[in-house]
Amino acid sequence: MLPKISFSKLSAPSKGTLVVFADDALHLGQTATDVLSGVDGLLQRAAATGGFSGKVNTVLDLIAPSGLDLDRLLVVGLGKASAAADLGESAWMTLGGVVMGALSSSEAADVLIDVPGGEASPEAAAAFAMGAKLRAYSFDRYKSTSGDDTSAKTKKLTIGVADTKAAKKAWDTADAISDGTLLARDLVNEPANVLTTLEFAKRAEELSKLGVEVEILDEKAMKKLKMFSLLGVAQGSEYPPRLVIMRWNGGKKDDQPVAFVGKGVVFDTGGISIKPAGGMEDMKGDMGGAAAVTGLMHALAARKAKANVIGVIGLVENMPDGRAQRPGDIVTAMSGATIEVINTDAEGRLVLADALWYTQDRFKPAFMINLATLTGAIIVALGNQHAGVFSNNDELVGRLSEAGEATDEKVWRLPLSKEYDKLIDTPNADMKNTGGRTAGSITAAQFLQRFVNDVPWVHIDVAGTAMSSPKTEISKGWASGFGVRLLDRLVSMHYEK
Ligand code: BES
Ligand code: MN
Ligand code: ZN
Repeated sequence: MLPKISFSKLSAPSKGTLVVFADDALHLGQTATDVLSGVDGLLQRAAATGGFSGKVNTVLDLIAPSGLDLDRLLVVGLGKASAAADLGESAWMTLGGVVMGALSSSEAADVLIDVPGGEASPEAAAAFAMGAKLRAYSFDRYKSTSGDDTSAKTKKLTIGVADTKAAKKAWDTADAISDGTLLARDLVNEPANVLTTLEFAKRAEELSKLGVEVEILDEKAMKKLKMFSLLGVAQGSEYPPRLVIMRWNGGKKDDQPVAFVGKGVVFDTGGISIKPAGGMEDMKGDMGGAAAVTGLMHALAARKAKANVIGVIGLVENMPDGRAQRPGDIVTAMSGATIEVINTDAEGRLVLADALWYTQDRFKPAFMINLATLTGAIIVALGNQHAGVFSNNDELVGRLSEAGEATDEKVWRLPLSKEYDKLIDTPNADMKNTGGRTAGSITAAQFLQRFVNDVPWVHIDVAGTAMSSPKTEISKGWASGFGVRLLDRLVSMHYEK
């Protein structure tokens, strides 16, 4: 369950559950020091017996500490005494996750964002709240019994801060980004019998409540636009494809928009080049790129970003069927280029070919960034710790890397070159949809680049990061929501006035 989060003036509650912070010299912030002043030496004694040394992200859990009327006191480590006052946003976000995890059965808690030897910023408090909220998320809507699992029980979190007004304002923004991240997680976690192409389009359409303009192209409209690369992937499914265009007009009327494009394969069986059975259920998450774009549009609209932003998602299901596309088929993309389909399991690039071409052709964006669970090879190369990025523009990819460092959604650049590009040439058409056995993530990126028409562009391969990524303090489930915080930050750092 997600907690209700509110902010109040730093003050000392006398009952219930209280959370305070200590550095590795066991120093507390001023308000927390006042709370514990009547019980001299409590922290030192409890720390000695409980083995608590103030190390960052560790917790000392005291039930009904004697001498205080509190039911429970949690002391949370901030680490090095000299650095405690300058903890960054991602450190505070992690602390939010740690606290939410440690609270577990407490129904309500007061947290004093109060650091020894300084004052935590409103942004720190908002980051803490975001971490708590992201940690509390669990995908449990299909569990008919609850209570036996690890999901958070804390209904109410009251965060004490020095400047309530500033913290609330920072939280308005951070909460919007949290909601966008959780929307992306929900979409990725949702099974493909529920989240069909049509259902996904419907959920994207709900963003209109936030002021996003949503336009949906059906099969007929896509045929008219000659998107036969995308349509070829969809033709084996009972569920028709959709291209969803979301527009957030938060900038000035004539500001050039920026564009985000997502791979939305709601299920990837591989098609006729069918995948092996083991682990195939994970392919319900093959729309992680589209989920991130949708979550991002939610975040930008909910926080009223001052930028014009386009989100485009290509929604298809890749199924084997009597009408499915075959290996050897040749299709013509919207750009006019012909593609020999060597492997029907390399379908994401076929979807993106038309989505990318359409986006640059119609919107002439300042840049285009696409996200896609594109290749298993990116997991071989980078594991689940970094997303792979490919770009034709050093400045744009540099900015993205900075946003990655700031949000802890990390990216790592891999090369593009004409030598790699050659690997997708074929005698039978303008290109084929797979390279050789090697450099699979790069040849996939080379394929995409043939459809970006020299617009500044980054491709983010999120196959390893959107799902089954490592558990962290702020993400305990299968879907991470990767990309929403990263791209929101890119927009706020460089593209808002
Ligand atoms: N959706 C997969 C990539 C993927 C694999 C995502 C594992 C998440 C986890 C993609 O459509 C695919 O099947 N790619 C093939 C390409 C190959 C046929 C050239 C792959 O990676 O094996
Ligand atoms: Mn595939
Ligand atoms: Zn796929």
